[in-house]
Amino acid sequence: MGRPLVAEIDLNALRHNYQLALQQSASAQALAVIKADGYGHGAVRVARSLQDLAPGFAVACIEEAEELRQAGIQHPLLLLEGFFSADELPLIVAHDYQLVVHSQWQVDALIDFFHQQPAQNTSLKIWLKVDSGMHRLGFDPSKVEEVYSFLQSQPWTQAIYLTSHFACADDLDSHFTREQLACLQELAEKLGHPPVSLANSPATLAWPEACGGWLRPGIMLYGASPLPKGHPQGDLLQAVMTLKSRLISVREIPAGDRVGYGGRFQASQPTRIGVVACGYGDGYPRQAVDGTPIWVAGKRCKLAGRVSMDMITVDLSAAPEAQVGDEVELWGKNLDVNEVAACCDTISYTLLTGLLPRVPRQSVNEH
Ligand SMILES: Cc1ncc(COP(=O)(O)O)c(C=O)c1O
Repeated sequence: MGRPLVAEIDLNALRHNYQLALQQSASAQALAVIKADGYGHGAVRVARSLQDLAPGFAVACIEEAEELRQAGIQHPLLLLEGFFSADELPLIVAHDYQLVVHSQWQVDALIDFFHQQPAQNTSLKIWLKVDSGMHRLGFDPSKVEEVYSFLQSQPWTQAIYLTSHFACADDLDSHFTREQLACLQELAEKLGHPPVSLANSPATLAWPEACGGWLRPGIMLYGASPLPKGHPQGDLLQAVMTLKSRLISVREIPAGDRVGYGGRFQASQPTRIGVVACGYGDGYPRQAVDGTPIWVAGKRCKLAGRVSMDMITVDLSAAPEAQVGDEVELWGKNLDVNEVAACCDTISYTLLTGLLPRVPRQSVNEH
């Protein structure tokens, strides 16, 4: 009923992908990364579906953690950027959130907080972030021993994990990844081998030497491989989101006529053009070029003309029988989201996280 656009979320595929991540880990420990509303799939839905498999979840901020707690998720929740201001600390303590500590200002804020409010029963799990070369977040390796010892000596510290993030793990030959890994291994050695967490999805799939300790798979859980097609592990992933709609109009235009805003697409021959209920107002990228694949009635067709807010137009030459009402897939089971992303000069992450709230999400294969 109503507008036919829907994002189907296949929870069997999600669970399959999580288990694939686990299989890469020597210690079989993986926090499922479900920030940005579970990469657009619905964080609560994803957490509920994985809660019997995953020992914990990672999110970007306290607001995302609160949404999960309010939905009844009791699992450990890791705040990947820690806190943004000290006024979050009472809630972090009260709700037992684990936190990344990446900067000295955060250590100072913790000291102040616990000074004012001595920590009888408080026991923080701290994921101490090392800047192993990406230069985004984390302590310089030369400072890590000092910060680690300081944190370890505090009564409010229950456990410290050593963590870092890879910049180039999707490059299977990356020398830089080896350097980052060596940096962490050296530090872990000096600190007496605390638990570590290094691997994002590409490292989980392609860098077994980085798969000790706690994995942090994100995009792979949702079935989009961060690796080039043909990688044996990446190719085992199953798409979780299938963005589906229908043809709402079909017409034939003569050779030479143009389609859509600015007349970007011009028919070189008489062409059947279908109109699909989906546009940039739903999160389908306006940057999509003519020729971007669109799956119509079981056939691979091509986008023809600029994406509008609520509609896109498609050249139906490859699906001559296609009629109003036929099913269309924008990405998902039949059409790799990576392929669509490449036609939009972007990556799967932005398509999945960029799907807007007006697109209803529908779980399939709930258990
Ligand atoms: C700190 C951290 N860990 C893990 C992830 C998951 O990365 P991916 O989605 O590539 O697996 C992210 C995502 O950006 C991240 O920022």
